[in-house]
Amino acid sequence: MTTGINYSEKIPNNVDLSGDRTLQRALEQWQPNFINWWDDMGPEGSTDMDVYLRTAVSVDPQGWAQFGHVKMRDYRWGIFMNPGEQDRKIHFGDHKGESVWQDVPGEHRANLRRIIVTQGDTEPASVEQQRHLGLTAPSMYDLRNLFQINVEEGRHLWAMVYLLHKHFGRDGREEAEALLERRSGNDDNPRILQAFNEQTPDWLSFFMFTYFTDRDGKYQLCALAESAFDPLARTTKFMLTEEAHHMFVGESGISRVIQRTVEMMNQLKTDDVNKLRAAGVIDLPTVQRYINFHFSVTIDLFGADESSNAATFYSSGLKGRYEEGKRNDDHTLRGEHYKVLEVVNGQLQEKEVPMLNALNEVLRDDYITDSVGGVERWNRVITKAGIPFKLTVPHKAFHRNIGALSGSKVSPDGRVVSESEWNAKVGEWLPTSEDRAYVASLMGRVVEPGKFANWIAPPNMGINRQAVDFDYVRFN
Ligand SMILES: [Fe+2]
Ligand SMILES: [Fe+2]
Repeated sequence: MTTGINYSEKIPNNVDLSGDRTLQRALEQWQPNFINWWDDMGPEGSTDMDVYLRTAVSVDPQGWAQFGHVKMRDYRWGIFMNPGEQDRKIHFGDHKGESVWQDVPGEHRANLRRIIVTQGDTEPASVEQQRHLGLTAPSMYDLRNLFQINVEEGRHLWAMVYLLHKHFGRDGREEAEALLERRSGNDDNPRILQAFNEQTPDWLSFFMFTYFTDRDGKYQLCALAESAFDPLARTTKFMLTEEAHHMFVGESGISRVIQRTVEMMNQLKTDDVNKLRAAGVIDLPTVQRYINFHFSVTIDLFGADESSNAATFYSSGLKGRYEEGKRNDDHTLRGEHYKVLEVVNGQLQEKEVPMLNALNEVLRDDYITDSVGGVERWNRVITKAGIPFKLTVPHKAFHRNIGALSGSKVSPDGRVVSESEWNAKVGEWLPTSEDRAYVASLMGRVVEPGKFANWIAPPNMGINRQAVDFDYVRFN
C-alpha cells in the first residue's frame, strides 16, 4: 500500500476515494459546506493572508509535510490514513485474537458512531473557540502556529467525517452535517463536551489549552488507535502525527511566558506581583492559577471514574487503553481491579473497583503522568533563573465537575475543604476576574517579523528551520 497522497483530486486522499464514486460525490457535496463553515467560524479576518503552513504529502513518519505560503481557505484538507497492517488482530477485549474489522459490526454501530461524532465535534469546536485570537497575536511566529493548529483541527474533522460517510450510511451523513451546525458556546446548539463550549479568551489560555486539552486529544486518539475497527485505528494514528505540534505550541508557549517573567523578576529583583504587572509580564502565581483551571477542566473530559460505557467500549474492542500493546496483562481485564477516589466522612479515600469500569480513570491517570512532565520542564526555566518558585499540577480531585468527586470541594494540595474555606481561598487557586482582566490587558497585536509582545520571550528557533524573523504570515 502506498503512503502517497493523491492531490490531483478535488479531495486529496490516500484512501482511493475515486474508487467509490457515490462516496466521493457525497463528500464533494459536504466540502462546500465545510468551506462555508470555515468562512463563518474560522480565524477572524484571515481571508487574505498567506500563511506558511505545512500540508501532508504522505503518511510516512519521515517527511510527511510540505511547507509553503497558502491562503487558509485554499488549504488542501483531505483524508489521510496510516497504511493498514497485514493480518492485524484485535488485541484486547472479548474479541481478542480475531481479525480486526474493516466495516462496522451491526451490534457496535451506535457506540462507534457516538465515539466518532464526539471526537469529530471537538475539532471544529476548538477552531471556533480560538477564532478571535489572531487579532491579538503576540508575534507573527505565534500567529502562524495558531493558524497551523486551526487548519489541522479542520483536517481532523475531515478524518471523522470520512468515517461517518463511508461506514454509517444516511445516519453518518446527517451526523456530518450536524458537525458543521453545532457552535461552540451556543445556547441552542452547543458543542457536545462542555470544555469545548468555554471561551479561549487570551493567549495564555490558548497555550494552556494546547498543552493540556490537546493532550487530552492525544490520549483519546491513542486509545482509539487501538480500536478493532481498523479504519478508525488507522485514521487516528495519522491524526496523532499532527497533534504533536499542537502540544509543542502549548508547552513552548508557556515556557516562553515563564522565561520572560523570570527575566523581569531578575531585572527588577522582585517577586512582587504588582511590580511585575506594572512591568507588563505575567506573574508566576497567575500562571499557576491558569494551570489549575485548565488541568482540572481537562481531566474532567476523561469522564466519570466509574463507567459501564467505558467497560463496554473496551470489552467490545472499540477503544483500548493508552499503549495497550505495551502492557503485560491479559488484555481482557476480567477480575482486575483499580483504585478510584471518593470522599468519605470529609476525607479522600481510595476505593477498589473492577478495572473494566475504571478505564476512564486509567486513561486519566496516564494523561496526568504525561502532563506533569511538561510542568517539570517549565520549572527548569524558573530554576535556571535562580528563582525559588515551583509550579505544580493540582491534585486530581481539585475543582472536578464530573464523576464521584464533583460534589466535593478539594484544595489543589488534595485536602477536602469546607464551602467557606473554598470561598475564602478560591481566588488563590483559580484565575480571578482581575487575573483575567490583567492578562486580557496585555493582549495586543504584534505582527512585525521578528518582534514579540513584551510578555513573551522569542522561541529558540523558527518553524521548518526558518529564521525566527521569517515572514510566516503575509498580509495582503
Ligand atoms: Fe484535533
Ligand atoms: Fe489538536
